Amino acid sequence: MSQSPSPMQAARLTIASIARLYSQGERIAMLTAYDYPTARTLDDAGIPMLLVGDSLGQVMLGYDTTVRVTMTEMLHHTKAVVRGARRALVVTDMPFLSYGVTPEASLENAGQLMSEGGAGAIKLEGGERSARTIETIVRAGIPVMGHVGLTPQSIHQLGHRVQGKTVEAGRQVIADALAVQQAGAFAIVLELVPEQLAAAITERLHIPTIGIGAGAGCSGQVQVITDLLGMSAEFTPKHARHYAELHSIIKSAAEAYEADVISGNFPGPAESSRMDEATLSEILAQTPSARLEMVEASRGIPLDRDL
Ligand code: KIV
Repeated sequence: MSQSPSPMQAARLTIASIARLYSQGERIAMLTAYDYPTARTLDDAGIPMLLVGDSLGQVMLGYDTTVRVTMTEMLHHTKAVVRGARRALVVTDMPFLSYGVTPEASLENAGQLMSEGGAGAIKLEGGERSARTIETIVRAGIPVMGHVGLTPQSIHQLGHRVQGKTVEAGRQVIADALAVQQAGAFAIVLELVPEQLAAAITERLHIPTIGIGAGAGCSGQVQVITDLLGMSAEFTPKHARHYAELHSIIKSAAEAYEADVISGNFPGPAESSRMDEATLSEILAQTPSARLEMVEASRGIPLDRDL
């Protein structure tokens, strides 16, 4: 039985909604989200697409690369984001080696992220090399977002640098993007690609390009939420812009809280509750040993002196 949304609840966006934004020439904003409260807040802000990126490995779980992220971790975070986002299309990353080994395993893992995780689409990395996998998954009815240019799961092959700057490499990025489109993807992430090349690819495709470090000529942009919010004191990629400084805001709040606990200023009357004084007197009228006996007796445990 299909469930129609209540009048108060906005319908969840689908890849058709994204195609509509694209055909209307609207630039599409996408952000990563990894947890319930952030998804809820970004949804309230009207962000149409949330990506449960495998970047969660680095920014949420403290791994050094995305290669360490597992299906179990992706499922756990996808479920939380889906619960938080009432309207946004939730796209989730297929982690390293969960696809591209055999078509059967790729399909099974993509299916699990949709049916158990609740995602509305999956994303996977790779151009020509992933085209067959994308085709298999799309044919099964699962919407796929591609990802070419810098593909972080290939960090051990590519390093972390701008892709497509030579004639050969640039042609390869174009061929990759076309292969992903041909395979049936509904959109494609272009990561760390020179802006002129990204704009040329965007012109040649009839699906939206979502850029990260790929200039303003893409159909939309995606950013890692912790970069956007300034949550890391250590590193901000060149392509990111801080729209808030949460690291210093959270740090100041934690310092103020600690100072209040140490000084006895927290909790105050507003954060505490009181009870009836007469009841308290009655409770306290009993000696500590009498109270202990009552507790032991209520559990039916014999006291030492009865043994
Ligand atoms: O995992 C991620 O956050 C991503 C974005 C960088 C596009 O794939």
